[in-house]
Amino acid sequence: MNILIMGAAGSGKGTMSKKILERYDIPHISTGNMFRSAITEGTELGRSAKLYMDQGHLVPDEITIAMVRERLKKDDCQRGYLLDGFPRTLGQAIAFEWISAAIGKPVQAVINLTVNLDDLASRITGRRLCQKCGAIYHITHQPPKVDGICDVCGNGLIHRSDDTIEQLAVRLREHVIMTRPVLDHYRNLNLVYNVDASRDIETVWQDVDKILANLR
Ligand code: AP5
Repeated sequence: MNILIMGAAGSGKGTMSKKILERYDIPHISTGNMFRSAITEGTELGRSAKLYMDQGHLVPDEITIAMVRERLKKDDCQRGYLLDGFPRTLGQAIAFEWISAAIGKPVQAVINLTVNLDDLASRITGRRLCQKCGAIYHITHQPPKVDGICDVCGNGLIHRSDDTIEQLAVRLREHVIMTRPVLDHYRNLNLVYNVDASRDIETVWQDVDKILANLR
């Protein structure tokens, strides 16, 4: 399966991606996670990306496209891909058309998660992450069994540095200006499946799973 998952910051892309991976055998490629790993590793890519991410801005297309192009060349993508958070600009979408055609894996469906603004703010400020295994929690909607500790690997949980109300406002503005045209592009190709992601996690997952099961 060749799938994109889209939606504003905090709409649940990472949460749904984890569930998709448990059910379907495809690599999860999250550009946000790739940038965060590069920052933790202290690479040049990480240093460049951090300048933008710390302010809630998108990382420039040339950096992002080159990173995704290399990732999609890896052998595991012969099984397809779940791209989370890419493409986010029309420039990325155009480049992605070339890249996906070159590997013979054109996109089959775009899952678009929709959530109202008030919910996004509480999801973002309450989110906690495990930097070691990537598990996602929320202090009220999805709390860990022991406060501040990952249920899966026992590591300490962190609050992402861009998860503030101020940076959320910038990220949402970038989403409206830069990413909505990408969604319109895929809508014109009849590839978009809207999912109301303001409901609880299991209900949202049932809808996503139904869409993906029908693609098989
Ligand atoms: P990225 O990491 O992609 O962040 P984002 O798009 O802002 O999305 P989030 O990770 O914040 O949210 P999510 O939708 O995954 O929600 P989650 O499942 O965690 O990108 C970060 C930055 O990297 C960007 O700002 C940019 O700088 C850069 N970047 C990345 N890709 C780029 C690109 N292509 N081009 C340029 N720059 C790029 O859920 C959030 C919380 O809500 C969690 O606590 C969760 O438990 C909870 N939750 C989830 N679903 C539900 C539900 N149904 N009900 C209740 N709670 C829920």
